Amino acid sequence: MSTILVTGCSSGFGLETARTFLDRGWTVIATMRAPRGDVLPGSERLRILPLDVTDADSVARAVEAAGPIDVLVNNAGVGLLNALEGASMNMVREVFETNTIGTIAMTRAVLPQFRERRSGVVVNVTSTVTMKPLHLLSVYTASKAAVNAFTESLALEMEPFGVRLRLVLPGAAPGTSFGDNARARMGMNIPDAYADLAAQVFAGFQQMTQVTHASDVAEAVWRAATDPSCPMRLPAGADATALAAAA
Ligand SMILES: NC(=O)c1ccc[n+]([C@@H]2O[C@H](COP(=O)([O-])OP(=O)(O)OC[C@H]3O[C@@H](n4cnc5c(N)ncnc54)[C@H](OP(=O)(O)O)[C@@H]3O)[C@@H](O)[C@H]2O)c1
Repeated sequence: MSTILVTGCSSGFGLETARTFLDRGWTVIATMRAPRGDVLPGSERLRILPLDVTDADSVARAVEAAGPIDVLVNNAGVGLLNALEGASMNMVREVFETNTIGTIAMTRAVLPQFRERRSGVVVNVTSTVTMKPLHLLSVYTASKAAVNAFTESLALEMEPFGVRLRLVLPGAAPGTSFGDNARARMGMNIPDAYADLAAQVFAGFQQMTQVTHASDVAEAVWRAATDPSCPMRLPAGADATALAAAA
């Protein structure tokens, strides 16, 4: 039986990914900043552990408590939709600490066991914004593009040890709490000079015809984890697949 550890399981893609692997017979270590037992079905194969990916002690404790795992999914992330001038450096640092450094820290913490066992998969969830730049997302896009580059380079380093790394690139998923969570953490103080641009951006959101669902991401993570022949970059969602096809 295989074991997967997923970061950011309290909602959205992480929660759906945990649910999918649980349904398919895996042992799942669902990690959350504030653990909640009520979001996933009870199972002997489910463990819920506390994990804040920005906290080195929390990372070390979670990896230690998890024990041997076969797959790590770095899904935890925060968004930031604003003009650069509207984002404080504290916000910029929080985005990079979570999306980029958090992913690197978790990957670094599991690599020794993967290397020694000569097996293991790391799946990093980034975004299609790294394929097609969008307005007001410069910091968020940079944090995810760095993960793409990190993953593709580290994949070369780990290949001789039988360790695989893959990227899942979801499109826009208005159905998750991502936008609300980003607004709650980062505010929405868009500077007046960018108000017209922001209005256009928000109007564009209303016109999206194709979106990504959490189940699309869970399926892409499943493929990345279980199919050694899958490509390095897996788009997830109808909009993401269309974008990748047009690229
Ligand atoms: N939704 C989209 O449109 C979209 C599109 C492309 C890519 N993505 C990416 O997909 C991933 C999941 O997003 P989602 O849509 O499922 O959003 P979500 O519902 O907001 O889920 C994000 C998860 O990350 C967790 N998290 C945030 N900071 C953390 C930290 N420091 N340590 C541990 N966990 C932390 C959150 O936990 P808390 O409950 O504790 O905050 C939450 O469980 C993110 O990496 C996001 O960047 C999202």
